[in-house]
Amino acid sequence: MKTVLSGIQPSGDMTLGNYLGAIKNHVKASKDPSTQSYYCVVDLHAITVRQDPKLLRERTYAVAAWYLAAGLDTDQSTLFVQSHVRAHTELAWLLSTFTQIGELERMTQYKDKSQRHKHNINAGLLTYPVLMAADILLYNATHVPVGDDQKQHLELTRDVAIRFNNHYKKELKKAKQRGFIIPEPAIPEIAARVMDLQYPENKMSKSAESAGTVLLADTPKQIEKAFKRAVTDNEANVAWDRANQPGVTNLLGIYCAVKGLTPDQAVAEFAGKGYGDFKGTVADAVVAELEPIQQRFAELIEDKAELDKILAKGAEKANQQAQPIVEMVKDIMGFVK
Ligand code: TRP
Repeated sequence: MKTVLSGIQPSGDMTLGNYLGAIKNHVKASKDPSTQSYYCVVDLHAITVRQDPKLLRERTYAVAAWYLAAGLDTDQSTLFVQSHVRAHTELAWLLSTFTQIGELERMTQYKDKSQRHKHNINAGLLTYPVLMAADILLYNATHVPVGDDQKQHLELTRDVAIRFNNHYKKELKKAKQRGFIIPEPAIPEIAARVMDLQYPENKMSKSAESAGTVLLADTPKQIEKAFKRAVTDNEANVAWDRANQPGVTNLLGIYCAVKGLTPDQAVAEFAGKGYGDFKGTVADAVVAELEPIQQRFAELIEDKAELDKILAKGAEKANQQAQPIVEMVKDIMGFVK
């Protein structure tokens, strides 16, 4: 059985990039009977950079509500908040003793973030990938959908898990335990990276205040405006060419992801059309896709009691899976029961 785990940070307003690059794929996977999937709102990761408490709370609810609004099947899959399942922090501590400081210092995200937050290079920023390893290993995840920026963290997760399994080989054998499952990266189908509409060389980001970011909560007018202004080029030709026509290719990628088309199919559809038409059609497709989701989101976010109930159920399911793993690890390591 394939087991998928994904973590999503409640650290900003959700963007079209989050939806097309992650949520839409996750919703599909949540309905697949051959896959068991876990979606974790990683609030403990978010605090490695300063968060306003009120916003953190609101955004944690919002991430969950967007998943639900987009149609996540919470009977087949598990949607939960990381801090609701204590095993995450507990396993992270245990695994931190199997992670070298040098490995953590080599992580590109750590280097980037410590550049950007020079006044707050806290220990959590460094040990962030250990907590991520715990997220993954607690659920016996076989597949972790990651973008390019998270591949290095998954590689570290694998190294730590293998190291643990090797170090306690004898104990595991004696206890008839197989140890950690070693996860593989899963590269999402299409539009794995939705780029900024103004700066198509940058990933569309929830933290960047760019006119090229489309938020899931944007009105149709705002969405149309953002697409109308999207950067293209002087080729006057709708072609899939990331190197030479990054803006146009990004728009095509968005269109493909929304409509479920291949690049060739999308290119064929716009043959001979001008950029004005092209951008308008992409904008319309995005608006039509988001409208029903936005309506459901608006209802869900108003009903915190209902969200609390759904998240409590998710936490209970997650805890049932995660707790035995942390117990196994402690037993193997020699902690008294
Ligand atoms: N580090 C991931 C990111 O910033 C979020 C994350 C936390 C995650 N735990 C995870 C992703 C586990 C996949 C699996 O995007």
